[in-house]
Amino acid sequence: MMVRMPQEITNDSLEKIATEVRGCLLCKLSRSRKNAVPGEGQLPAKIMLIGEAPGKNEDEKGQPFVGAAGKALDLALEKSGIPRQSVFITNIAKCRPPDNRIPEPEEQIACRPYLDRQISLISPQIICILGNTAYSSLLGGKSVMADRGKILKRDGQEYLITIHPAAAIYNRNFRSVLEDDLSLLGQEIEKRQKNSVHSRSLDNLEGYTQQREQQQGPGKEKKRIMKKKRSKK
Ligand code: URA
Repeated sequence: MMVRMPQEITNDSLEKIATEVRGCLLCKLSRSRKNAVPGEGQLPAKIMLIGEAPGKNEDEKGQPFVGAAGKALDLALEKSGIPRQSVFITNIAKCRPPDNRIPEPEEQIACRPYLDRQISLISPQIICILGNTAYSSLLGGKSVMADRGKILKRDGQEYLITIHPAAAIYNRNFRSVLEDDLSLLGQEIEKRQKNSVHSRSLDNLEGYTQQREQQQGPGKEKKRIMKKKRSKK
């Protein structure tokens, strides 16, 4: 289980993690990479997207999802009303596996502490799992097609499961699947935002009423509001 520590206690930062990832020699992928790809995005981010591993374009640029799969992802994000700049995007493995093979279990394990630290710092409302590798690595899931569109909670963290954007490059049906799931993600975040604004304004109202009652004595504030309401009729 991952234990979250506030940033001021750990003194950790996304920049520090990125620097460590760029100099990482923990697994053999470090020998074949051009550039490590730590991830991209600003704090705060309510959504974190986690893919599999960098491909050729990502390896060349040092940025996640900037090739064909990135274009499919960008399109789906745009259609779902989620600005790419508002999310943090990263991968299970931070270096490109040769020939874009799936990162091996020991490569995933070697990279995991970087990901855990990123999650801990970002503390996203929802982590969006992109594809089977991220699903099995993070949650031990078997098939994103069986569970896509579901929001799962594990150790206090919520996850939305969806397909890998590479599947949406040539297949229209998969494109709709990705768009539908990311739209659901956008709606969920919006719903939470509205609920928190609503409960904050109720808190404010309650605080205000308590303050008035303290000043004027119990019940007076209630009577004042009732009188005002009656006079409006
Ligand atoms: N595929 C991934 O899983 N991640 C990337 O960054 C690019 C392609």
